[in-house]
Amino acid sequence: MLCAGVALAAFAYTSVASAEENVEVLHWWTSGGEAAALNTLKETLAKQGVNWTDMPVAGGAGTNAMTVLKARVTAGNPPTAVQLLGFDIRDWAQTGTLADLSSLAKEQGWDKLIWPATKQFSTYDGKWIAVPVNVHSSNWVWISKAAMDKIGLAKPPANWDELIAALELAKKAGIVPLAHGGQPWQDTTIFENVVLSTGGLDFYRKALIELDPKALGSDTMKTVFDRMTALKGYFDPNFSGRDWNLASAMVIKGDALMQVMGDWAKGEFVNAKQVPQKDFLCIRFPGTQGEVLNTGDQFSMFKSNDPAVQDAERKLALAIMDPQFQITFNKIKGSIPARMDIPDTQFDDCAKKAIADMKEATANNAVQGSLAHGHAATAAIKNAIFDVVTRQLNGQLTSHAAVAELVSAVASAK
Ligand code: GAL
Repeated sequence: MLCAGVALAAFAYTSVASAEENVEVLHWWTSGGEAAALNTLKETLAKQGVNWTDMPVAGGAGTNAMTVLKARVTAGNPPTAVQLLGFDIRDWAQTGTLADLSSLAKEQGWDKLIWPATKQFSTYDGKWIAVPVNVHSSNWVWISKAAMDKIGLAKPPANWDELIAALELAKKAGIVPLAHGGQPWQDTTIFENVVLSTGGLDFYRKALIELDPKALGSDTMKTVFDRMTALKGYFDPNFSGRDWNLASAMVIKGDALMQVMGDWAKGEFVNAKQVPQKDFLCIRFPGTQGEVLNTGDQFSMFKSNDPAVQDAERKLALAIMDPQFQITFNKIKGSIPARMDIPDTQFDDCAKKAIADMKEATANNAVQGSLAHGHAATAAIKNAIFDVVTRQLNGQLTSHAAVAELVSAVASAK
């Protein structure tokens, strides 16, 4: 009986391993840096005999990808795995369609390995339902060294006044001061930085995490919108609709002085063979040093009864959590490992700073979720705020009106 059981198990394993294993992965990593990083995952799986069916849905921050995902699942045809952000993971977990990875997590000791800000979204109802591949943050500014030299900017700005002074210098020298892509999530990436810098950490928490109507409707928020208008004065005339990586390219070429963007932008600089300190600088958005607006990518798998699919999902999860893989991938992606046990030695100066900042901010309770990247509030609230921020930035609302709209938009999306 025992022998038969063992033989059966061996047969089952062989049949799983020899069958063509495949993962279909839905993601939005289509820029040069993103695609290069993703390739390292495809290659890792190929070495284990797992075939990769790519399902890219272009569009930064995953807005388009989420629409396609819903359509696929509604049609009864989910992918094997999907790239998800923060609150979207929770939303999907609630539908009961995600695979439970708890036994693998237990076996591998994931509980002790992942940054707390990340882990809170990897689990739902006590179960592991997502595997984190990285930690990104959105309060960064990317500055061209060539442009700095050209306009005579000696050091990067450390506060709001210095930021405006630097942008003015670029404007006078005929260089685009602030490279920006006018899309709601990019507008809101700048907005959340201005909220944090203008109001500080407690204000950010009250306004964008706790969604307190008093904070949302405050004079401080009006100042934030005024500052958004001030920054818009430093965009070039063609900013509308531009993809984020094309804005990064303007800084890489030295055609623009700076971009406010999460550290996936560094993936574009690295992909263009540029080096931190020499070709570009990475600084925290002026006035936010010591604080981290946290985001990061996780992969969730969909439930399947097929042992070959389950085996492929297990291999995908193990590959993502492999320490060497997390080093290789994150060096290219611009992010830092989701695992806290990986030393910073193999990383460049920007990633070393990102790791040090994350440690410091975690210890000081100064990590807050990025709203633009789904780590502060549900998709419904995020989208309601996107709408107000973009309308105000495009001159359809005064700062005064935007504050009132923000309060009512959040209230009705709650
Ligand atoms: C973020 C994501 C990053 C990067 C960026 C631009 O939401 O976490 O990995 O891809 O969007 O697409």
